[in-house]
Amino acid sequence: MSTPSLLILAGDGIGPEVMTEVRKIIDWFGAKRDLAFDVSEDLVGGAAYDVHGVPLADETMAKAQEVDAVLLGAVGGPKYDDLDFSVKPERGLLRLRKEMDLYSNLRPAQCFDALADFSSLKKDVVAGLDIMIVRELTSGIYFGEPRGISVNASGEREGVNTQRYTESEIARVARSAFELAKRRGNKVCSMEKANVMESGILWREIVQKVHDEEYPDVELSHMYADAGGMQLCRWPKQFDVIVTDNLFGDLLSDVAAMLTGSLGMLPSASLGAPMENGRPKALYEPVHGSAPDIAGQGKANPIACILSFAMALRYSFDQGAEADRLEKAVEKVLADGLRTADLMGPEGGSPVSTSAMGDAIVAALDASL
Ligand code: IPM
Ligand code: MG
Repeated sequence: MSTPSLLILAGDGIGPEVMTEVRKIIDWFGAKRDLAFDVSEDLVGGAAYDVHGVPLADETMAKAQEVDAVLLGAVGGPKYDDLDFSVKPERGLLRLRKEMDLYSNLRPAQCFDALADFSSLKKDVVAGLDIMIVRELTSGIYFGEPRGISVNASGEREGVNTQRYTESEIARVARSAFELAKRRGNKVCSMEKANVMESGILWREIVQKVHDEEYPDVELSHMYADAGGMQLCRWPKQFDVIVTDNLFGDLLSDVAAMLTGSLGMLPSASLGAPMENGRPKALYEPVHGSAPDIAGQGKANPIACILSFAMALRYSFDQGAEADRLEKAVEKVLADGLRTADLMGPEGGSPVSTSAMGDAIVAALDASL
């Protein structure tokens, strides 16, 4: 098989500096594990806007469609707040998701033992937590038509967005959740608002149908999304896989992220249909944003982005054992007490820099050989 290709889109804010650390990890796998990648880089978000006047150039979009996997840092920043909506940095990311048809967004929330004290919840509520949120990523209110701001009949402006889901859109993300559950705790909880939304009624019906016809051995439950948010804070360990729509998934995954102590820890994978070589269309990115307030200061935590590369090893490149190796290396540096600024408790301490964290993870990888 030819060398697998990776397109790196570091983006804005802390994106480039965390990606520098990921490059060290990628290089390590090439040098020490005979796992070389053909890496190219390009622009997304505000960085692309500055050069091309759009948050994702057509050539970059075309490249993303061709590579085996895309690794993205973060997009957005105050500098771009006043731009027209159509060229805001976030539109670049949304275009990638939509045109690559990355319908299944995997957002694991795992609490590392060494960080159980950092959660805003009690330690016993989060210690050992390991849940997976599967968020639908290419439809729903993020993309539904009609949308826009217009003047209505009484001369008042109104903003409109549309929540819309087809049966097949629901069924494919449900399948993806059931498949994951089979390899984990065998439990899926589906979340919607079937009590107030027709799209939620259809969501519940189709998830149940896919379950009954194709995955009867997986345990399935349904929950209203608001109650789901509450249960995530009350007793998150009741969940294994949660499947939900685009908007609820956006909210619930931030909630779940915070259970683990810091947004700086959480990776994600966005997967689509298999390509000709059998690999799924894929984009990997940290759940955190561009954090403009700390950008360029060496304060950012590179772990979420590094763990996103671990997900790429697992889901795109069939290198589960090497993904485990990388995750264990991260666990080791945390157990050794290394902390970036986001992981400082109220009592403070001396944080390590972004690059020191990357170097320590490389050293832990070396030690794993
Ligand atoms: C996320 C982010 C994005 C979203 C933004 C940056 C468009 O919040 O990935 O969760 O809303 O999906
Ligand atoms: Mg979000």
